[in-house]
Amino acid sequence: MPENFMQHDLQLRITNDGSHTLFVPSLSEHYHSVYGAIQESRHVFIETGFRKISQKYQNINILEVGFGTGLNALLTLLSKEDSKIHYDAVEAFPLDELITEQLNYSSQIDSQNAYEYFTKLHQSAWNEETEIVPGFFLKKISRRIETIALPQSNFHLVYFDAFAPDKQPDIWQIDVFKIIFDSMRSGGILTTYTSKGLVKETLKSAGFILERLPGPPGKRHMLRATKP
Ligand SMILES: C[S@@+](CC[C@H](N)C(=O)[O-])C[C@H]1O[C@@H](n2cnc3c(N)ncnc32)[C@H](O)[C@@H]1O
Repeated sequence: MPENFMQHDLQLRITNDGSHTLFVPSLSEHYHSVYGAIQESRHVFIETGFRKISQKYQNINILEVGFGTGLNALLTLLSKEDSKIHYDAVEAFPLDELITEQLNYSSQIDSQNAYEYFTKLHQSAWNEETEIVPGFFLKKISRRIETIALPQSNFHLVYFDAFAPDKQPDIWQIDVFKIIFDSMRSGGILTTYTSKGLVKETLKSAGFILERLPGPPGKRHMLRATKP
């Protein structure tokens, strides 16, 4: 992936559910599914990941790979109910506020708090933990996931939301999945939107047990990986 891909003009696009995504011309890649950004995020990360983990634990440590627009963090915050969440989000190329303030997520989500929460998620400082609302602690880390030292046996849930394997093969490698595996608790889960054969093999080699599950509209399958 080009080192300076964020320097190229990102384009704001509307997906089929009315929510925005960003298009990266240099990669010919979108940040989300063009069939619906909010729909995809709810399906892959909230319903298949967060709901399952929150049935089991009340104190939940989450790692997101690729904070990007902050959509997954916003939906998690809005879904948290009584959970206490520590949300660590790694992002190699933080978006400029001039871009994030144009995103229409708060008007597309049926919550009177969405705008305030979305603004707070983006205005919080990088590389330090901020309590966004009581019980939701966000730490945005401006680093590449490949170069980070993660705490061992810490995360209950991982949202793996990198660009697609054919666009960004370096991030879907066994070394990255091993770092993540070691950072997760036993019984912890990782969800991702792809079910590509190579990704399945790599996740298995890193030690995960896999489930291939129905994907969001426009995608037949997705993956949920569990650390035994
Ligand atoms: C498919 S987008 C999804 C972003 C985000 N989850 C969202 O909903 O907007 C992938 C994200 O991964 C980030 N990224 C790319 N390479 C990365 C790396 N090596 N480490 C961490 N983040 C990376 C990109 O900048 C982008 O924000």
